[in-house]
Amino acid sequence: MASIVAADRVGIDRAVELLGRDEIVAIPTETVYGLAGRALSEKALLAIFSAKERPLFDPLIAHLALPRHTVNILDYVERRGLVELDALSPEVRDSIDDLLSAFWPGPLTIVLPRRAGVPDLLTAGLPRVALRMPAHPVAQEILERLGVPLAAPSANRFGRISPTTAAAVAEELGDRIPLIVDGGPCRVGVESTIVALDDEGRFVLLRAGGLATEKIEARLGVPLVHRTAAPGGGDDRPEAPGQLASHYAPARPLHLVDSIAATALPTATPIGLLTFAPLASPPPAHVTALALTTRGSLEEAAHNLFAHLRALDRPPIEQIWAERCPVTTGLGHAINDRLTRAASR
Ligand code: TXA
Ligand code: MG
Repeated sequence: MASIVAADRVGIDRAVELLGRDEIVAIPTETVYGLAGRALSEKALLAIFSAKERPLFDPLIAHLALPRHTVNILDYVERRGLVELDALSPEVRDSIDDLLSAFWPGPLTIVLPRRAGVPDLLTAGLPRVALRMPAHPVAQEILERLGVPLAAPSANRFGRISPTTAAAVAEELGDRIPLIVDGGPCRVGVESTIVALDDEGRFVLLRAGGLATEKIEARLGVPLVHRTAAPGGGDDRPEAPGQLASHYAPARPLHLVDSIAATALPTATPIGLLTFAPLASPPPAHVTALALTTRGSLEEAAHNLFAHLRALDRPPIEQIWAERCPVTTGLGHAINDRLTRAASR
């Protein structure tokens, strides 16, 4: 069984020691908990895929430490040895540099041309590699002390709800990993937004997430190319291999509706309700209701999304009925993306 340790000196020492030996450790980030292992170690990468039961076609994000001194962020990224950016035009380089300067550290992942020698396991053999600089101080301290990038997918079994607390990680992977570093509940609550640079030098949205796409577009000065659709037609698959329709799924069936108030709900089956505002009156005994926000805040809703879904995915509840986020901009985009995938099976 995994030990859950506090993110203090002793806990972080233990995490660094295990990671240095190519073992895997669950660590907090500001988005969700990650299952970390050295990004250039095939042994650690295989252990990550195996613990998550994740298919090898689904590549991982490499996480980077904050630069110790003020530097050009793109030079810093290049020196980490994962990307090969020599073929890019000065304009494209400037755009990437500007984007990363604005939003790193934080919930933005960028997918850039990979350097030869980066393990195929990390990128699933794709020509690009995904990079992120997490904002969580515990993730940063571990990265800084190790001095090498860490691969870290969300610390859940493949296809399941991402964990936003140490207890949720234990529920998912407790019997499969040695250590969970408890950094408290994750502030953002949904995964990073993923943007890829394509062959034409355009920025493509691969996953909506904790950084609003509008903020990215305002910074770039051009709209993102949208390519987040779940694969169905085959062609999309290599572009965003992890974006499968059925993902973030609770064990119970999840029904997604525009309005709970306007829905005829089962009258006897124990159900869980996930709403965007507290109910007007207390629900009947067979209904457990959780509101994602009490004050119409998208940040609060995103922060609570996976924790509430997980709380409703328990006996005696047999079905979950969730409301679509009425706001589709900002974090509403990511929230609806996760709810739609959770409802798909
Ligand atoms: O917020 C996050 O990004 C969290 C925390 C732990 O950092 N990590 C995370 O990782 O969500 P994961 O593995 O659960 O999701 C990563 C997504 C997958 O859908 C994967 O397909 C995509 O990133 N991805 C990774 N490398 C890629 C690449 N080279 N090209 C295209 N997509 C890539
Ligand atoms: Mg994941």
